[in-house]
Amino acid sequence: MKTVSSFFDLRAARLSLDGTVGLVPTMGYLHEGHLSLVARAKAENQHVIVSIFVNPTQFGANEDLSKYPRDLERDLSLLASLESPGTASQLIVWTPTAEMMYPSGYQTWVEVEALTKGLEGAMRPGHFRGVTTVVAKLFNATQPHKAYFGQKDAQQAAVIRRMVADLNFPLEMVICPTTREADGLAMSSRNKYLSEAERKAATVLFRSLNVAKALYEAGERDGEMLRRKMKEMLASEPLAQMQYVSCADYDTLEELDTVTGKALLSMAVYFGKTRLIDNFVLR
Ligand code: PAF
Repeated sequence: MKTVSSFFDLRAARLSLDGTVGLVPTMGYLHEGHLSLVARAKAENQHVIVSIFVNPTQFGANEDLSKYPRDLERDLSLLASLESPGTASQLIVWTPTAEMMYPSGYQTWVEVEALTKGLEGAMRPGHFRGVTTVVAKLFNATQPHKAYFGQKDAQQAAVIRRMVADLNFPLEMVICPTTREADGLAMSSRNKYLSEAERKAATVLFRSLNVAKALYEAGERDGEMLRRKMKEMLASEPLAQMQYVSCADYDTLEELDTVTGKALLSMAVYFGKTRLIDNFVLR
């Protein structure tokens, strides 16, 4: 495994790679979900680049960037455990700094329009502009053949998919299933902030999504009914404070009156100060 930080060293490392390259963009504090993306990228490419960068521009004024969990040493040892010794395949970890990414005078932004207005975008103004800008920079710097993202951040995946198509990035996006704890809670770096009681209560996201999915599988196609049933389940958990619940078109993310094609059930819920999101895709 090779760790590089500057654009210059990344470029040299990238130029030395012969064959296909998979990129796994992360903000570090890796968990099994990230590792499953790396494992998939390794299985599908000759080489893998993992970027670790807590991107300041995707944090809102009310979101504490300094409190975002970081543990580079642990991240590097987890990644090293995924290496395949004795093969020509390379694992490169890129750890740029904020000063390298956004040097003084920086003023170029990538913005996807309508898709970023609702759901997470409505709750976190400016968030997706930061995400698309940094991901475009990661793509340009690493020139991957494939890039791996988790389905857990469903709107992020939809927005980046749009950006890749609109800006003709010559790469394939691979969206990997959400990795879950045994009780269904989606893995997230934020779960560590939950108290014991909140951690137990947090399974209500998975339970609510399952209620709506079961109704859908039984033939229910009324979007409002699916949203209502998810809200009712969330309301039954005293520690859960719902921020939004959605049943939307998978690609446009517009709320649906009737589910006819591929759809996304999603929600954001607070447990104390910790905000969790989760979603299911209905096919
Ligand atoms: O999903 C994340 O961890 C981040 O939003 C990403 C894609 C690495 C961009 O900073």
